[in-house]
Amino acid sequence: MTDGDRAGIRRFPLPWTAVRGWLLWVACLGLAACAEDSAPPQAADDAAIEAQRSGAAIYQRYCFSCHAAGVAGAPRTGDAEAWSSRMAKGRDALLRSTIDGMVGMPAMGLCFDCSEQELVDAIGHMSGTALAPMPSP
Ligand code: HEC
Repeated sequence: MTDGDRAGIRRFPLPWTAVRGWLLWVACLGLAACAEDSAPPQAADDAAIEAQRSGAAIYQRYCFSCHAAGVAGAPRTGDAEAWSSRMAKGRDALLRSTIDGMVGMPAMGLCFDCSEQELVDAIGHMSGTALAPMPSP
């Protein structure tokens, strides 16, 4: 056995401890990630239906990017003048143009999983004028 080999054997336990520690750490991370994902899908669906997102939440996530600064002529949030002619169309017409999209606005205002009620709430939030709720199905 050469000196080099012996040195190698002597050095071995140290890196292995480090590697074992690292593996444990990765395993813990993996478990934590799994624990988060492990809720049954059915429960998640039910929660989504119950927890309807507020108009403000939808706005912040989807509509804000254009309507805060008035990108491409979007009526600005809280700008009563810009919204007044739009609001005159009524809830259903506003909802329709949001769902279908308008010249500068992509369909659904980019919130493809939004319900009609969520869109109506977001419009109410932006315009500063609450709209009548959608009739229950
Ligand atoms: C990519 C930019 C963009 C995003 C994102 C966006 N909008 Fe718009 N929106 C516009 C523009 C531009 C207009 C003006 C369109 C026009 O007058 O031709 C507009 C107009 C509107 C109008 C007026 C429609 C009408 O009939 O006059 C409503 C209501 C509206 N948006 C709702 C929303 C809602 C709700 C969201 C978020 C869920 C949203 N928008 C997200 C760009 C956007």
